[in-house]
Amino acid sequence: MLIAGCGDLGGRIAGRAQARKEEVVCLVRSAASAQRLDGRGLDARAQDLDSDIVLDDKSQRQAQVFYFAPPPAQGVDDPRMGRLLDALDTRPRRIVYVSTTGVYGDCRGERVDETRPPNPQVDRARRRFDAEQRLLRWRDTHAGEVVILRVAGIYGPDKLPLQRLRDRVPMIAEVDAPWTNRIHIDDLVRVAEAAMARGIDGEVYNVSDGSPGNMRDYFDRIADAFDLPRAPEITLADAGDRLSPGMLSYLAESRRLDNRKMLDTFGLALTYPDLASGLQACVDVMRTESVD
Ligand SMILES: NC(=O)c1ccc[n+]([C@@H]2O[C@H](COP(=O)([O-])OP(=O)(O)OC[C@H]3O[C@@H](n4cnc5c(N)ncnc54)[C@H](OP(=O)(O)O)[C@@H]3O)[C@@H](O)[C@H]2O)c1
Repeated sequence: MLIAGCGDLGGRIAGRAQARKEEVVCLVRSAASAQRLDGRGLDARAQDLDSDIVLDDKSQRQAQVFYFAPPPAQGVDDPRMGRLLDALDTRPRRIVYVSTTGVYGDCRGERVDETRPPNPQVDRARRRFDAEQRLLRWRDTHAGEVVILRVAGIYGPDKLPLQRLRDRVPMIAEVDAPWTNRIHIDDLVRVAEAAMARGIDGEVYNVSDGSPGNMRDYFDRIADAFDLPRAPEITLADAGDRLSPGMLSYLAESRRLDNRKMLDTFGLALTYPDLASGLQACVDVMRTESVD
């Protein structure tokens, strides 16, 4: 397999493939990340998708491609995706892409399944939608297969806003807080592998644990689980001055994701179907790590 954007998620999938003795090529942006993966016995190349891409024979012969690199930080399109697609030769292959649920835009707290038309309202989501569209055009013209995963907020050990809580950054009150959706990183790994193995070509799948919560509750539960003080409460009216533009853009959108298509097609039972079970697992892992 070829993993473009082999960071946290990709590194986990690469490690599992390595254990199965499968051939894996990892693409990352920086030499430092490539070195880290090399240190794990993986075959990694620093290949910045913002520059011209040359793929060697080993990269080209991989029939399975995971694309996990984010779009650039600016603009409304994803030229990185375009460059990788242009660099791939024409042999048959399947690409699994991790997009985001942001492509749906604000849904005023409604339940959202994959039949809902995308309505990206911020540039971050427009870039993701552009990447999806580029992939589907590539599928039409290259006879390749594409599976798109619209992934909710990823959490897991070392993927929690603990520093934010320690820094006492405020959060809005529950009454103002939008619906949010989460997926534990371990479950996402299995979902991405299942998408490669069993996802239907050309289809889009929502990926979440199926237990939407609200943003305030998310921060409170993490604080409680890690014995940290809960974030100071502010009103929505004060949030504009106190929270980052990124956080404000998340707070402006509210959705409850329907994950049934993913569960039905992939035949998966999630290990962490709600935040309570997933957070407990994070606490256990992080406690063990700190003892080691
Ligand atoms: N966090 C969330 O809640 C969430 C939700 C939905 C989707 N996602 C998306 O899911 C994907 C996987 O997440 P993750 O946690 O594995 O991300 P991650 O750990 O940040 O890894 C991103 C990878 O992309 C590489 N990359 C970035 N820019 C690149 C470029 N210009 N050229 C080549 N490679 C580049 C990075 O390489 P370097 O290490 O060398 O920089 C890194 O290997 C990401 O696209 C993320 O945005 C995240």
